[in-house]
Amino acid sequence: MGVNFMANIEYDPERQLFHLHNDTFSYVIQVIRGYLVKRYCGPALDHFSGTAKLEDFSHAFNIQNDAAPYSLTTLPLEYSTLMGGDYRTPAYAVRNGHGQLIGNLKFDHYQILAGNESFNGTLPTARTPHGQTLIITMHDETQTLAVRLKYTIVGDLPVLLKQVEYRNLTDTTLTITHAASLQLDFDDHAYDLITLTGAHLNEAKVTRQPLTPGKKSIGSNYGASGPQGVPATILAAPATNEFAGEALGVTLLWSGNFNYTAQVDQFDNSRLVMGLNPELFAWQLKPGKPFVTPEAAVAYTNDGLNDLSRIFHRFFADHVMPLPRKNLIEYNTWETTYFDVSEAKILAEIPKAEELGVELLVIDDGWFKNRPNDAGQLGDWVPDPVKFPHGLRPVADAIHARGLAFGLWVEPEMISENSELYATHPDWAMQYVGQKPLRSRNQLILDLSQRIVQDHLITVLTNLVRDNHIDYLKWDYNRHFSQPGSPVLPPDQQGEVGYRYTRGLYRVLKTLRDTFPKLLIENCSSGGGRLDGGMIAYTDQTWTSDFTDPVYRMKIMNGFSLFFPLKIFVSHFTASPNLQDARLTPLHTRALLSLVGITGIECPPSQLSPAEAAAVKASFAFYKANRKELQNGLLFRLRPSHVNQDEVCWLITNAAKTKALVLTSVGVTSPIPHYQHVLLHYLDPRLSYQIDNTKNATGLELNHAGVTLPLAHGDFSATLMELTAVTNLPQPTAAPTLDQITTQS
Ligand code: GLA
Repeated sequence: MGVNFMANIEYDPERQLFHLHNDTFSYVIQVIRGYLVKRYCGPALDHFSGTAKLEDFSHAFNIQNDAAPYSLTTLPLEYSTLMGGDYRTPAYAVRNGHGQLIGNLKFDHYQILAGNESFNGTLPTARTPHGQTLIITMHDETQTLAVRLKYTIVGDLPVLLKQVEYRNLTDTTLTITHAASLQLDFDDHAYDLITLTGAHLNEAKVTRQPLTPGKKSIGSNYGASGPQGVPATILAAPATNEFAGEALGVTLLWSGNFNYTAQVDQFDNSRLVMGLNPELFAWQLKPGKPFVTPEAAVAYTNDGLNDLSRIFHRFFADHVMPLPRKNLIEYNTWETTYFDVSEAKILAEIPKAEELGVELLVIDDGWFKNRPNDAGQLGDWVPDPVKFPHGLRPVADAIHARGLAFGLWVEPEMISENSELYATHPDWAMQYVGQKPLRSRNQLILDLSQRIVQDHLITVLTNLVRDNHIDYLKWDYNRHFSQPGSPVLPPDQQGEVGYRYTRGLYRVLKTLRDTFPKLLIENCSSGGGRLDGGMIAYTDQTWTSDFTDPVYRMKIMNGFSLFFPLKIFVSHFTASPNLQDARLTPLHTRALLSLVGITGIECPPSQLSPAEAAAVKASFAFYKANRKELQNGLLFRLRPSHVNQDEVCWLITNAAKTKALVLTSVGVTSPIPHYQHVLLHYLDPRLSYQIDNTKNATGLELNHAGVTLPLAHGDFSATLMELTAVTNLPQPTAAPTLDQITTQS
């Protein structure tokens, strides 16, 4: 089959069967007795005739509804609720004026549209110019509720987008309490569930476990997606590994409260439901006002977890993220001086930073009025007159005069009670009526569900960026919801605050991006606490963890790499002993592991030892010479992501596979010398490669016989191997070699 970047949706009216497919992926839905049933999800089919039949399975004591001869609780349904005989985890729950659940939606009509018809321009949605969209409208029997299921098949990837819109068909208000973006039913449960969970400083821990009877739920009720769980998961066949086997991944383009549940039911069938977290959520569905869930993306492969990650990486990079721009090598002040920043200090660092190869200087937290520590004044965003007596502009000008870029830390969603903003607008803080505000990191959260608050942020940030010629913002978010109340919403709408907040945040981010198309934005939430498909749609890069120990940062990025592309990860050269765990890490490791994704430095350039300065300078030069691979390359994990997570081995290549890097990092070494072979799997078998400017080998041999990694010298070591295709390419130019970066310290 030739490559055809077009998606196609075929409808067979006789069998009421929809076949959504592109060149690599098929998804089939059939209307059976009015119910919407999933018939197939897998590799592309030319035609679906239905050789694998649905079982006429009417079990004892089943509810005798009009689905007969089928039992509703055994059918693989597309979107269902707790009513009429399906007892599995519901995808939706809507109550009518009698307080009763509205159930058993039946097919009403469908539309097929080009591209991705967005239900609602205020939520992130993937760009799919070569896609096709099917919208199926379903009604309940009392004509109270219409639910529109949107399916977009992406043209160039095995990815299906799902989104749901609710409409009230009556003139009284309905209440939505569960609203999933997708439901996926399977007629077996032979899958492992792969999840990312964690905590601040310990993000993206990979767990793989078989599905077993009952329910497994991961979610967030923190207000943000949170480091506790990432809204993305994988169902993999038990034999699937990084290199082969079937896997289906699901993610949300959403940054607020979420939940997903994987269930194995009484008949050993399974269901995955993912969407808004029903805890803390209730939506008043007014007549005439639609409600839209976040968009979900389903990706499928038969070629192992690396291939699933490749699909997600391309999906995010090509279909979700802002259009590419050059991410810059950064010096960030945070681990240099914490809050103690000033004009004099940053100006003093410019020459040395420039000499190292830095391209962007960022003033982190502490630059604004009354911010000697984290009890200070969030919300006013006025430069501290002592630290910056002339404001920020002269600093920006001095940095720009050297041809460098200027960046600033902000935490726009927060407010301190000692701020002028709070004195003027106490009702702009999220709060519970009559209760003492609960602080976290001494701060409260602005109520972004209010449009006036969104407008205020848009004005403040626009002025800040414009007046100070800012090229980059580090957008931080350092506390979670505790009293998710809005002073302006009526009592019966308080369950809407979380959703409205996240939607408001997207409006602010989108407006800022539209106003300043060249502005770089780094996503941060005390590290990788809000790394999800929603924030990725508005930001260029992400600070994956406040744990800046290089070996552990690699482990965290390895977990995130199941879904997110290399180009968003930020890795900075940091101090040893490390400021979080006091670990001493060899200079070689610190320099080498700062190279992946977007590199930079958190130590003061002027205070580096001569050896450190030489190592950083060489690594930045190496980075510049290999930027295409290190920043935008393809990333493949050569070790399983869930076994011994302290050891990471990555193959990074350019798209043409003419340049490749094998990067390893290890934790505590074994006293027994232990040679490790890794198969490189993904090189071009037709090419011949030069390894570390010495010997040559074919891609075929390297893929199947592999290479021997250098022995780890001491704890927390890292190695890099360079491979350059020599078959039909000129010899590599004189890029700095590894030896020039640094020797073992
Ligand atoms: C968060 C970020 C850090 C730093 C501090 C500033 O913790 O993750 O990098 O910006 O806030 O307060």
